[in-house]
Amino acid sequence: MHPMLNIAVKAARRAGNLIHRSADKIDHLTVTRKSHADFVSEVDRAAEQTIIQTLLDAYPDHAILAEESGSQGESEYLWIIDPLDGTTNFLHGLPQFAVSIALQHKGIITQAVVYDPVKNELFTATRGRGAFLNDKRIRVTRRVQLADSLIGTGFPYTRFEHMDAYMAIFRDLMQKTAGLRRPGSAALDLAWVATGRYDGFFETGLKPWDIAAGCLLITEAGGMVSDLHGSNTYLKTGHLCAGNPDIHAQLLKAIAPHLTDELKK
Ligand code: IPD
Ligand code: CA
Ligand code: CA
Repeated sequence: MHPMLNIAVKAARRAGNLIHRSADKIDHLTVTRKSHADFVSEVDRAAEQTIIQTLLDAYPDHAILAEESGSQGESEYLWIIDPLDGTTNFLHGLPQFAVSIALQHKGIITQAVVYDPVKNELFTATRGRGAFLNDKRIRVTRRVQLADSLIGTGFPYTRFEHMDAYMAIFRDLMQKTAGLRRPGSAALDLAWVATGRYDGFFETGLKPWDIAAGCLLITEAGGMVSDLHGSNTYLKTGHLCAGNPDIHAQLLKAIAPHLTDELKK
C-alpha cells in the first residue's frame, strides 16, 4: 500500500471507531444546526480532529480542507476530509454513514479512503493502482441497459435552487431504470458504484469532501465520473453523474433535456 494511503487508512479507522463507539449515545450528543436541515454533532468534530491529527503527525507540511474546520496550511498536497458523511442518518440511528478522506496532489486526486465503520468495509484507491474493498480488487458493473440498472442518488434537502430540474430528472429516471435509491451518504453511494452495488449515481449540490475520495474509487474501478453534462469540473460545481461507462453515458443522455443553464456550467 502507498505510504500516504496507509496513513489515510489509519486516520479513517481511528475516526470510524470513534463514530461507532458514539452510535449508542446519540440521544446525549450536543448537536448544532449549521443551516436548514444541516446538523453537526460533537462526533463530527471529534472525528475530524482525530483525522487531521493523524495526517499532520505524519505529514506536518500538508494542507487540509475539512468540512467542519475548513482550510489550513498551504502545500501542493491537500487532504480533503469528510469526517462523518451521513450525519442525518447517524443522528437518527440509521446505520449508513462513512468517513471520507482523499489526497489531492497538484490538483489531482491521488489517494482515496471511504470507511464504513458499521459494516467494517474499507474502500481504498491509489491513482493508477486500482480500487479495493477490504484488500480485494473491485470493479464497476458490466450492465449495459439503463432499464436494468439500479441508480443511487441524493435528494436536495438543504438548498433547493435545483429542485425543479432534479425532480424532472428523478421522474424521468424513475421510469427509465430498474430502481432509484437514496441511502443518505454520498461517499458510500460512490463507493457502492465502484464495487458494483449500483450501476450509476447522480446528485446536485455536493461538496468536495463528499465526493473527492468516491470519485477516485470509481475511476480506479473502471467507471466514469463527470458533471451532469459530461465535463470534469464536478469537484467545483458539486453536480455529479457517475457509473459504469455504458450507464454513465445513458444517464447523461437522460439528464440532458432537463438541465438548466446553471446546471450546464
Ligand atoms: C451529506 C450526505 C448526503 C448528501 C448531502 C451531503 P453530510 O453529507 O453525503 O448523502 O445528499 O448532499 O451533504 O452532511 O452528512 O456530511
Ligand atoms: Ca458529506
Ligand atoms: Ca459530514
